[in-house]
Amino acid sequence: MSDFRAIILAAGRGTRMKSKIPKVLHKICGKPLLEYVLDIVRSLRSLKTYVVTGYGSQIVKKTVGDGFEYVVQEQLLGTGDAVMRCASHFKNYRGCVLVLCGDVPLLSKTIVAALLKKHHQTKAAATLLTAYIDNPHGYGRIVRLPQGRLLAIREQKDASSGEDKIKEINVGVYCFKARALFETLKKVRLNPKKKEFYLTDVIELLLAQEKCVATLTTQDQSVAFGVNTREDLAQAEGIVRQRILSKHMLGGVTIVDPLTTYIEDGVTIGRDTIIHPMSVVQTDVHIGKNCSIGPLARIRQGTRISDNVEVGNFAEVSRTSIGSGVFVKHFSFLGDASVGRNANIGAGVVTANFDGVNKNKTVIGPQAFIGSGAMLVAPAHIGARAVVGAGSVVARGKTIPAGTVAVGVPARVIRKI
Ligand code: UD1
Ligand code: MG
Repeated sequence: MSDFRAIILAAGRGTRMKSKIPKVLHKICGKPLLEYVLDIVRSLRSLKTYVVTGYGSQIVKKTVGDGFEYVVQEQLLGTGDAVMRCASHFKNYRGCVLVLCGDVPLLSKTIVAALLKKHHQTKAAATLLTAYIDNPHGYGRIVRLPQGRLLAIREQKDASSGEDKIKEINVGVYCFKARALFETLKKVRLNPKKKEFYLTDVIELLLAQEKCVATLTTQDQSVAFGVNTREDLAQAEGIVRQRILSKHMLGGVTIVDPLTTYIEDGVTIGRDTIIHPMSVVQTDVHIGKNCSIGPLARIRQGTRISDNVEVGNFAEVSRTSIGSGVFVKHFSFLGDASVGRNANIGAGVVTANFDGVNKNKTVIGPQAFIGSGAMLVAPAHIGARAVVGAGSVVARGKTIPAGTVAVGVPARVIRKI
């Protein structure tokens, strides 16, 4: 693939979200909207990526991190102005620039790659992605002459009553020849209704200069889905969730009831693991092969589960590593813990990991047996093969030596095994 640079528009507040959080940081399946778009640009290996931030720019920067150039748009004067803020970085660049909106998380890498390819093949000044949508309300419409020639992109507010029936819409993903883009942007006038500079007006201006503008049209409606409201957010979440579940099922994981299973982005699960209904697996979790999770289990961020592990109903596991062959079958909370292989965690066992200020660690050795209802007040250390009696409380800072039996409140060693 030919080289390109990318500009991602992420400065908008997202007024329709009615939120203090910048729109692009709202999450679907545990990942900010903006990250979905950045993933595409990363995987297509853009030479350089400029992220235009404005509303909440500090928090956007902090969330997304290094690897990008940040450009601040001081005043939110529209998508055209947002791109214009990058102009100084493109003075000596003659190549292709891919412009994407940060609020289209369902976009696929394949379609963006196809757009870039078409742009290079046609040698057009601009190539834009369009889609046919059943309900085009709110999107910019693709206005064409009867024989199909492109005329302009018309925003919802400016669309005539005929134009608002058009079902072909602007996805908000464009390739430009950098020079043509920045030269033409200078000519864009403030939209009188919205008091913004529209990036989409560049298209009409390029056509007026008899420059070639190509389009690539997708029939996949979901690709174009822009998140503007909380309802959109929930709808996008549903679509991404289905995609994630399909990926795991195709990879050899049984998901008994996809309708009640919630697996976030950034999860790996080994073959022949079964995820039972009403279970939640959050982002940054690895689950091994041949495990059984749920029903009604919650596996939280930072958890690593090895092979042949059972995590049963009403168990919550957070930032914990679990060795192979461990059972955590009923009503448990394991937080900031590490559990050695073949240990048994009885019904109702709790690691009390939070002392009001810090989160503390609990280490449970291999083949340890923690009786029902035991409370391990972290930091705590249970040695290999040790037994903690049902209902015992292992006091804060305590170690139960390997191969001993400890019982009571507080737990005391009563014998060796
Ligand atoms: C935009 C397009 C519309 C397209 C739709 C696709 C324009 C004028 N319209 O409309 O044709 O169908 O996307 O989803 O471009 N942003 C900035 N700075 C600003 C304003 C917006 O960076 O001053 C960013 C936003 O953070 C967002 C993106 O640009 O990520 C799009 O802005 P938004 O207000 O959502 O535009 P739409 O009305 O959806
Ligand atoms: Mg939008």
